[in-house]
Amino acid sequence: MVNLVLLGAPGAGKGTQAKMLCEEYRIVHISTGDILRENVKKKTQLGYKAKEYMDRGELVPDGVLIGIIRDRLLKSDTGKGFLLDGYPRTVVQAEALQEILSEINKDLDVVIDIEVPDDELIERLAGRRMCRCGASYHMVFNPPKVNGICDICGDKLYHRDDDTQAAVKTRLAAYYKQTHPLIDYYSKKGLVRPVSGSGGIEDIFQQIKTVINMIME
Ligand code: AP5
Repeated sequence: MVNLVLLGAPGAGKGTQAKMLCEEYRIVHISTGDILRENVKKKTQLGYKAKEYMDRGELVPDGVLIGIIRDRLLKSDTGKGFLLDGYPRTVVQAEALQEILSEINKDLDVVIDIEVPDDELIERLAGRRMCRCGASYHMVFNPPKVNGICDICGDKLYHRDDDTQAAVKTRLAAYYKQTHPLIDYYSKKGLVRPVSGSGGIEDIFQQIKTVINMIME
């Protein structure tokens, strides 16, 4: 069992690796981006509020996210281990996470920092295509078998609203200003393991697995 955080800039491959890792270790995948997008899709009050920030590429206010993550971590399935993808994104969120984990007698085992140069991130987000079923592709690096169609459900693929050039620029700026300081925050706790996120998806997966297996020994 392992409790981990995946850190990384927008487009670093957190979602791609998270799906593979959660299947490998049979742990729960908690993606705050997915939870927010689900709320936008269902047109909930939270979804309306979050969409404004997300479309601009800004972070949704901490108070909203802390509530979401608290509710999710209190569910019993997190007892088998969990992977946080996209949370925390600010030091305030990290401190709140620490409090929630203490309340439920859990701890983080490792924080994997996926590092990718900015020009590669921009290329990845420009070419990313999503399916409503949750699958994610890249037109060049991870293309579907039939152009524009999901391999899994056959639905049409779409470009995420926040993958526009302007929103990506804001997302990267938000990452460096608000999220990057978490590397230092978790390094001081001895939890950070950097992994190069450039290269093949499978190679990166193997590298992350090596890190996790060492931690679990
Ligand atoms: P979120 O959904 O978390 O987006 P993000 O962090 O910007 O990350 P992405 O999903 O864009 O990228 P990823 O790292 O998962 O990369 P992926 O695997 O898809 O958040 C969206 C928004 O929600 C935020 O901007 C904010 O507004 C809000 N939000 C969410 N959490 C929040 C929080 N805690 N606090 C406040 N606000 C919050 O890969 C990208 C592409 O590259 C894909 O096409 C993929 O196929 C391809 N790819 C992956 N790996 C490789 C590789 N090795 N080589 C080549 N291509 C690759």
